[in-house]
Amino acid sequence: MISLCSKKTAGNSKTVNTADDRVVPAHKKSQKNRNIRTGYLSRSFISLLLICMLVSLSVLVSSGCKDDEADVKPEGPERTDKPVIGLAMDTLVLDRWIRDRDVFVSAANELGAEVIVQNATSDAQEQQNQIRYLINRKVDVLVIISIDADQLVDEVELAHERGISVIAYDRLINNANVDLYVSFDNHEVGRLMASSVLEQIPAGRFALMKGSREDNNVGLVVAGIEQVMAEYPEAQIIAEDYAENWSADDAYAKVRGWLDSGMQPDGIICGNDALAGAALRALAMHKQAGTVLVTGQDADLDACQRIVERSQLMTVYKPIDSLAQIAASAAVSLAAGQAAPANDIINDGSHDVPYYRIMPVTVNAANMNEVIIEAGFHTLKDVYRNIPESERP
Ligand code: BGC
Repeated sequence: MISLCSKKTAGNSKTVNTADDRVVPAHKKSQKNRNIRTGYLSRSFISLLLICMLVSLSVLVSSGCKDDEADVKPEGPERTDKPVIGLAMDTLVLDRWIRDRDVFVSAANELGAEVIVQNATSDAQEQQNQIRYLINRKVDVLVIISIDADQLVDEVELAHERGISVIAYDRLINNANVDLYVSFDNHEVGRLMASSVLEQIPAGRFALMKGSREDNNVGLVVAGIEQVMAEYPEAQIIAEDYAENWSADDAYAKVRGWLDSGMQPDGIICGNDALAGAALRALAMHKQAGTVLVTGQDADLDACQRIVERSQLMTVYKPIDSLAQIAASAAVSLAAGQAAPANDIINDGSHDVPYYRIMPVTVNAANMNEVIIEAGFHTLKDVYRNIPESERP
């Protein structure tokens, strides 16, 4: 606990960062040495020590040590020969992100790299601070799951100035010219959601509960939905809104508002499974859970359970293990000064950046075993937990 907090302190304290020889420019180092020789040290050293102790204490109290750590590189200027990767995460609230972190860290460790994990707990400003902290820790590569697609241009530029490669993981960072974007085909995610509901009700009236407006994936998913909707001229989108910061509570309040006002959608296309769960809770209040089509993405365990129980129509399976392994191996290659593989290119608003694109897959009651259970993503026992054994496949 204490060591976690002292690391966090280092991330937020200029004093400690500049005490790291690796980040002090040569001309400042000689100034520092002159100070030591003239005996200036004792007073300033004691003040520095006191400041460090105070800052440590205040960070301990105010942040409660928000960092999530995995195989954390020890504090201090000493370095091993291993490449060090900084993984800046949005959140660990969803199961998928825990899986992303665990697979990424173990794949990187197997390839001989260390990983410093930071969790910004959905706070975009905190993510900027954490990225700057990782840059000051002189990581070799930054892997970022951005909260706000438009807010990290300066951080990526700073990383590049310091010779640190940047991978945009799962979510693109706009106008930042990252070295690699590794993600699923998010446009296809939207196409799969829309096709599923439209195949059921081609002239349906649908509501859209989108994810966070700051997340670049959301626009891509919505574009995919709209592309398929355009092929069904009788279908309509009768309401749409964002779940701010991907908040399920916000989604619940908004879907509840639609239903309370008398809206009767045939389906609610939700940005992910957490939002789908929230929509279903709101529908349950109107005794409509199971009668209105609901979609999601991520193949969360509870969504897979709802699918076999027939309250949720579908989800989208995205092979997280592949994403995390590909990103870890790309990070290690970039750290060694080698090119990272890509199979596509995407424009970030100002630059074409290399893109490693992975295809998502529809999951419904009919293909649950083939897609989810045979892939080992969830077990049959877990998915069918609420289905009597006699009715299981
Ligand atoms: C990801 C989803 C995830 C959502 C909320 C999106 O960018 O594509 O898989 O559910 O963020 O964290």
